[in-house]
Amino acid sequence: FGTAKWNQKDHLEIGGVDTIELAKKYGTPLFVYDVQHIREMARGFKQTFEEAGVKNKVVYASKAFSCLAVYKVLQEESLTCDVVSGGELYTAIRGGMNPRDIEFHGNNKTKSELQMAVDEGVGTIIVDNFYEIQILSEILHTEKKKQEVLFRVTPGISAETHDYILTGQADSKFGFDVASGQANEALSQLLSDDVFIVKGVHCHIGSQIFSPEGFIAAVNIIFDLLNTWKLKMNYLAEVFNIGGGFGIQYTQADTPVSPSEFVKTIIHQVKEACQKNDYPLPEIWIEPGRSIVAEAGVTLYSVGAQKEVPGIRKFVSVDGGMGDNIRPALYDAAYDAVVANRKAESAEKISIVGKYCESGDVLIREIDFPKVTDKDIVALTSTGAYGYSMASNYNRNPRPAVVFVEDGQATLVVRRETYEDIIHLDVPITE
Ligand code: LLP
Repeated sequence: FGTAKWNQKDHLEIGGVDTIELAKKYGTPLFVYDVQHIREMARGFKQTFEEAGVKNKVVYASKAFSCLAVYKVLQEESLTCDVVSGGELYTAIRGGMNPRDIEFHGNNKTKSELQMAVDEGVGTIIVDNFYEIQILSEILHTEKKKQEVLFRVTPGISAETHDYILTGQADSKFGFDVASGQANEALSQLLSDDVFIVKGVHCHIGSQIFSPEGFIAAVNIIFDLLNTWKLKMNYLAEVFNIGGGFGIQYTQADTPVSPSEFVKTIIHQVKEACQKNDYPLPEIWIEPGRSIVAEAGVTLYSVGAQKEVPGIRKFVSVDGGMGDNIRPALYDAAYDAVVANRKAESAEKISIVGKYCESGDVLIREIDFPKVTDKDIVALTSTGAYGYSMASNYNRNPRPAVVFVEDGQATLVVRRETYEDIIHLDVPITE
């Protein structure tokens, strides 16, 4: 994966840096990101648009992994970003993103978050519901400002991994429903209020999607709508944002489509829909999160206790777990792992479990693995998305550090939490 390879010491090396040296220097658990891989994924999306001559934005979905350093890489690769909270907005701006290049998403942006977005000059707010139209309008009228917005439409498609199902009515907390006419009503309201500059529509059909069919269906539904709005309301969208959700490889069982293939399919479908309806080609925006950072990340853990229940299972415990990767517990997500400090043959079936006080704290339910000891470092692969960003202090375990590696250089980008950090927000006991 990425720039990972075995070096002369038979250690796993990423970005030209020995992961075992990293584990020694920064401790474990440790997130290591291969910056080159992030760049390659970003360029894969970006170049496909550029080669097709289509105006575009590749909007990184911050929720997958956000810290100051990631925004520097995004800017270097001409990506913009989305945020879904005041905290992500704050981080993106502090990370040097131009507020104009930020999209603000969410089904319940608070008044203070919307105020913050308007004050900071956020480029695009993705309006999600009628309540938001009302409170954002109030803020904009008070501030005497105009705001570029997209509005989020729920096309009634739910895409799931290899499959997609067309549902009559979209049972989603996000966006304006199409079937019941909410989307029409939203557009009318937005167009009738001159504080809104309605740049276009947004939809997002799901996450970890492997098949382009869901995207094709979404394009068709949205462009039918756009065509109706063109004819009935004389409205032309300048922007069509199809969201993120491009699948990645967690284990051998996953066979992802490359970023460029997804983008090519989307461009093709949009062009076809435009030709059919004589609709001017809008800018196409996408919002990849996972596909930019997931495979760039590995988590290094130290092996600790082992327990064998004869004939049933062998548990190998590591020094992290659900606090740094909730995905297996939350979604039954599968991961792969290797021993990072030596090349070793698989010898037994084990479960890799964490150190948290819950039976559900399992990182890998079953894997063919080498026999390991407490001298070994285990690397879980493809942990770069929704790992650190969903990390917690459960059991008052400090959250891991994060290191970026590139061209033989390692840079600490998030330091490890300390016990002092853990009690930082607790109000001291007074006598
Ligand atoms: N755009 C919107 C509007 C979204 O809601 C999401 C993800 C994305 C873009 C980015 O999707 P991606 O390209 O990363 O799949 N915590 C879950 C994933 C939740 C995704 C929520 N929305 C996980 O760990 O799998």
